[in-house]
Amino acid sequence: MRILAIESSCDDTSAAVLADGAILSNIVASQDALHADYGGIVPELAARRHLETISTVIHRALEQADCEVGSIDRIAVTHGPGLVGSLLVGIAAAQGLSLRTGLPVDGINHLEGHVLSPLVHEDVAFPFLALLVSGGHTSLYLVRGVGEYEEVAWTRDDSAGEAFDKAAKMLGLGYPGGKVIDDLAREGNVASVRFPRGRVKADDLAWSFSGLKTSLWQFLSAATEGSAGALGGHRLEDVSASFQEAIVDALVARVLLAAERYGVSRVAVAGGVSANSRLRTRMTEAVGKLGGSAVFPPMNLCTDNAGMIGYAAWLRACRGLDSTDIAAASRLPLGQKRRLR
Ligand code: KG4
Ligand code: ZN
Repeated sequence: MRILAIESSCDDTSAAVLADGAILSNIVASQDALHADYGGIVPELAARRHLETISTVIHRALEQADCEVGSIDRIAVTHGPGLVGSLLVGIAAAQGLSLRTGLPVDGINHLEGHVLSPLVHEDVAFPFLALLVSGGHTSLYLVRGVGEYEEVAWTRDDSAGEAFDKAAKMLGLGYPGGKVIDDLAREGNVASVRFPRGRVKADDLAWSFSGLKTSLWQFLSAATEGSAGALGGHRLEDVSASFQEAIVDALVARVLLAAERYGVSRVAVAGGVSANSRLRTRMTEAVGKLGGSAVFPPMNLCTDNAGMIGYAAWLRACRGLDSTDIAAASRLPLGQKRRLR
């Protein structure tokens, strides 16, 4: 089965071709440079850029896979959650192609694409816990099978990616900031500044990153008023490492709690923040101590890409799951929410 997948939910324009679940091509046109001056994504600019690039990206994906439209069996497109203006560009491209070719179009939840992305290259038995950490989302899912998801933890405010990006902005490191902080932190001391972690309550797995953001702001304000320099005498590498450690601690602590509560110690981590080197090391160690294992997608499948959308479409099609809803949805939950009792 050959699938042409399209992803345009946020600020990356992407198309991929898959043959029986194997990713033959996965083209991503990033808009990072376009939004960098604004310190975040400007929805109108994102939609316009998608419109300008989508045809080229689809052609390149077909070309790199050495494939004609005529040999494609289905089209898969992200239909939510995301920026509606951005989603509509991908959906319109999929519908246009479908009209021309008569091919069926599968609407895929972007979150399902992320959650299943670690399975592209690794065999993970069900059930497993999927930690989705990106710029738009921070949630933990109990995955019992393809199409069987329960959201068991989520953030009350910012996502982990936003916490990285806002910290990078405050530290004058540009946008997006996760990778820059990750790189600086490799040379830093995690115990240099003590940032708050928030209490982990056994009956409430929710994250909150807004307090952490405020504490960095307070730390920087106090340092500006003092005489020891902009970082209060600390190195930028040390502040980055300490801030990153607070995020990683918060993520690992709740995954461990959920692993214990649900008796599941296989953990898959996905989304842009799953590229973080410290998170990879700490999660692997922590889950290993439970006798479990943590898997991560390769770097090119961590951030937004159409390959993961095509892969989710393939898994769903193989199981005969319905994917006919292609209406653009800014909010689109994955499974039911469940609170620990
Ligand atoms: O999955 P993604 O590409 O987009 C969303 O669906 O949101 O995630 C982007 C996020 C950004 O916040 C970026 O700063 C973060 O992923 N990110 C990282 C790293 N690489 C990307 N955060 C921490 N460490 C990294 N190495
Ligand atoms: Zn994403």
